[in-house]
Amino acid sequence: MSHNQLDAKSQAWSALFTEPMSELVQRYTASVFFDRRLWKADIQGSLAHAEMLAAQGIISAQDWADIQRGLQQIAQEIEAGTFEWKLALEDVHLNIEARLTQLVGDAGKRLHTGRSRNDQVATDVRLWLRDEIDGLIALLRELQAALVDVAAQHVDTILPGFTHLQVAQPVSFAHHLLAYVEMFARDEERLRDVRRRTNRLPLGAAALAGTTYPLDRARVARTLGMVDERGEPQLCLNSLDAVSDRDFAIEFSGAAALIMVHISRLSEELILWMSQNFGFIRIADRFTTGSSIMPQKKNPDVPELARGKTGRVVGHLVGLLTLMKGQPLAYNKDNQEDKEPLFDTVDTLRDTLRIFVDMIGGERDATTGQRSGGITVNRAAMEAAARKGFATATDLADYLVRKGVPFRDAHETVAAAVRAASEQGVDLSELPLAALQRFHPAIGEDVYAVLTLPGSVAARRTVGGTAPTQVQQQIERHRARLA
Ligand code: ARG
Repeated sequence: MSHNQLDAKSQAWSALFTEPMSELVQRYTASVFFDRRLWKADIQGSLAHAEMLAAQGIISAQDWADIQRGLQQIAQEIEAGTFEWKLALEDVHLNIEARLTQLVGDAGKRLHTGRSRNDQVATDVRLWLRDEIDGLIALLRELQAALVDVAAQHVDTILPGFTHLQVAQPVSFAHHLLAYVEMFARDEERLRDVRRRTNRLPLGAAALAGTTYPLDRARVARTLGMVDERGEPQLCLNSLDAVSDRDFAIEFSGAAALIMVHISRLSEELILWMSQNFGFIRIADRFTTGSSIMPQKKNPDVPELARGKTGRVVGHLVGLLTLMKGQPLAYNKDNQEDKEPLFDTVDTLRDTLRIFVDMIGGERDATTGQRSGGITVNRAAMEAAARKGFATATDLADYLVRKGVPFRDAHETVAAAVRAASEQGVDLSELPLAALQRFHPAIGEDVYAVLTLPGSVAARRTVGGTAPTQVQQQIERHRARLA
């Protein structure tokens, strides 16, 4: 087969085919227009494979040198945008291999010795995803750091804590933000865990059963950095499984969907907080848009879109699960459909995280560590809201318990006091002592200390509670973790 004949698809894989594909079937089966983004991983994998073939004496040193030279030139062409991607060559793998053979002749045709596109594509996707996971972990840490920095400014800022979206008890705004830091910290753990199982080598499985050539799989794994913490090579140890399962991609999508769900909850709060009825925060104008008809509007488009895009990432997870379900061993072409959802998941998550780092934390001055341009907090509005809705009612009950009243009785007494205060349109702390004493004689002048917002917050000193002393400890723990 001569080099230019490779342009015709049927000759790209075999002389067995007597009939050309229609244009529609070519487009239907091709993946090059989306899987070309795997080109770097594909070249990286081919280089590692060829280096090992030469080291094992399966190809000559000259072939290895030619393959290296050819693949380097291809990388330059792709980077420069001069590489000609051909639909007729189906996917990224065949496009690169055909060009290699065009450039270096027979050595290019020897590259595929002991390899199949089945173990090749599984390797490429794993390499690509591993590196993307590293980038996402870094962004997730930046987002946590931004939240911790904003929290550090607001340990003593009080807002109403809600259950059922009804005012429940006052909490520190820092405490509220740190709840998201906990979520993103677990998300980071999950990504690290998925990375371990992603970073394993399928190459050597060949089409499905392994290969007759004396490959050194561990060498390839080491070259590709597919090693554990102790530097031990990580291989997929069943060839059928190696080429066919995509559970690493599904797990990743699960972790990504959870991150988006956490982002979506935060988005919902940002949207509520910046509505006129709350007025707790402002987000910078660069993350909002106006209305074409209502001149007064500033809409929180970015958090709304993040909430919306959560749907598509969750959808991709379901798509990938459904893709895998019902596939018999080993490789099936169904698996080509893993790429677009996976790519879109990574793109959506990466963009969302980058935008959120900036929207929450703004720009961080490297020398002073000061941030500017992130969310603006209206402490007065938060505290005014916390003073509505009898947020310190539990504190009055706890006060009575300390005076010896059984908790259930205290609960009843306070409910009656809340009802009376509510009828008069005042807060519990605004009822005169004599009025409070009508509900229980054990109430004394010292009750007013527990009815204030700072008193209420400071009293919740359990580990993980909202008291400023506790919150400060958590801030320090996170700072050490994120340093
Ligand atoms: N483009 C294919 C994929 O993404 C590569 C593997 C093709 N293997 C095969 N035997 N047709 O899955």
